[in-house]
Amino acid sequence: MAGDILSIVRSYEQSESPAINPESRPCFHVSPLLGWMNDPNGFSSYKGEYHLFYQYYPFETTWGPMHWGHVKSRDLIRWEYLPCALAPDSDYDREGCWSGSALELPDGRHAIIYTGRMPVNRNEGEEHILQVQCLAYGDGVDYEKFDGNPILTEEDLPEGASRYDFRDPKIWWDQREDAYMLLVGNMAADGAGQLLLFRSRDTVHWEFLNILDASHHEYGKMWECPEFFEIGDTAFILTSPQEMVYGGEFQNRHGNMVISGTYDPISHTFARKEVHAIDFGYDFYATQTIQAADGRRIMVGWMQAWENAAMKRGIACPGWTGMMTLPRELSVKDGKLIQAPVRELEAYRHDRVTVKVFSLCGESVFPDIEGRCIDMNIDLTFPEGSSCTRFELALAENDEYRSVFACDPNSGLITFDRTQSGYINDALPVRRLQLPPEMKKLSLRVILDRYSAEIFVNGGEQVLTSVIETPQEASGISFFADAPVTLNIEKYNILIP
Ligand code: FRU
Repeated sequence: MAGDILSIVRSYEQSESPAINPESRPCFHVSPLLGWMNDPNGFSSYKGEYHLFYQYYPFETTWGPMHWGHVKSRDLIRWEYLPCALAPDSDYDREGCWSGSALELPDGRHAIIYTGRMPVNRNEGEEHILQVQCLAYGDGVDYEKFDGNPILTEEDLPEGASRYDFRDPKIWWDQREDAYMLLVGNMAADGAGQLLLFRSRDTVHWEFLNILDASHHEYGKMWECPEFFEIGDTAFILTSPQEMVYGGEFQNRHGNMVISGTYDPISHTFARKEVHAIDFGYDFYATQTIQAADGRRIMVGWMQAWENAAMKRGIACPGWTGMMTLPRELSVKDGKLIQAPVRELEAYRHDRVTVKVFSLCGESVFPDIEGRCIDMNIDLTFPEGSSCTRFELALAENDEYRSVFACDPNSGLITFDRTQSGYINDALPVRRLQLPPEMKKLSLRVILDRYSAEIFVNGGEQVLTSVIETPQEASGISFFADAPVTLNIEKYNILIP
């Protein structure tokens, strides 16, 4: 029976997905084979290739009972679709195969650990949906759910932890422990998020170790999609808190957050140092990371926000909705997380154009500086004593539309304005990023891929990621400064063969 449901989904994929015009998709960002996509899942290296799964509802372009979609790649830029990996076809995940992670086992199997939404009848007629953790093992294409599922249930929870909000397990191997570790999002008794740390020798039997960190209502409610890794001496927790209060760096109601600190592997405790937003744009949620074979820590996120997800699409992309961010290389500078587009993108750069303007003032456009599938570096210098109070970079522009990055070098305030980007229902009209005042220089790396803009500021110290929902004819790029600034542009088209 279980297998039957998955084969129905797979034949539906085969018959319906060819109808989707590849031109309607982003060129190098992952989008679902068809239907709906949210969180990245199971981001992992397996037998020398990168695998990425995703929260998936193949039958509609809206969220529904969750499946796992699947793609793989050799270079994180060109992705190949694989058939649906998991369907909600078992008693313990009948209400959905929710987010989770994956890793290659020493015996060559690809292990997936995910959250099952399991309906139970506690009292006569009253149905509750519990969240339990489940395993599946596979060969990179076909996955079989483990007979002993679920492997983590309410019985494994510490005092006060919710059995209804217990999800998004992140698994990794910890050399020091000679064991697998698992971090799972949970709701504490105070009604706010906490992250539970478990350990296992075999991926099946887990022992609760500690609460790694908790919101205590300071940073939103439920903490979804936790991640944990260390780069050098700095430990990082990434999580996506629900129901954040708008304020400071947090401008999305369902936000994203990086907590840096130190981790003590003996006591399994984490000491917080700093808390920041990971991304300052409109659309960034539910991150996952891997450590690549060459040692790089690479992150991917869902390039969408829950509050925008119900938006009306359909301008040019019927049949699918949702995209992943470009995978990003992570590093540390002064204890802070730095993000850069994966270097593999550089192999797909073509048609190099450079522009140098010693003194840009007023509005300018430049030949061949345009397009919706581009990689562009911009270096700005604000001369000594400059009276510039506004620099603007308008992307995806035509008479009707523009998506505007702006900066006031005096105050250090950066904004991204999506008022004319085809969205009608943003709760806040702009996104803000406060940098130190009296800026002398600003560098930007702008990646556009048909329906998105990812803007890496000052070498990836901050990033603003947003979906742009406008027709591809809006492909202009213009620059404006209200007093002279020096501008250097280097722009490439990205062409994926
Ligand atoms: C985050 C999330 C996860 C959950 C999944 C369900 O976006 O809510 O917590 O596992 O999406 O699709």
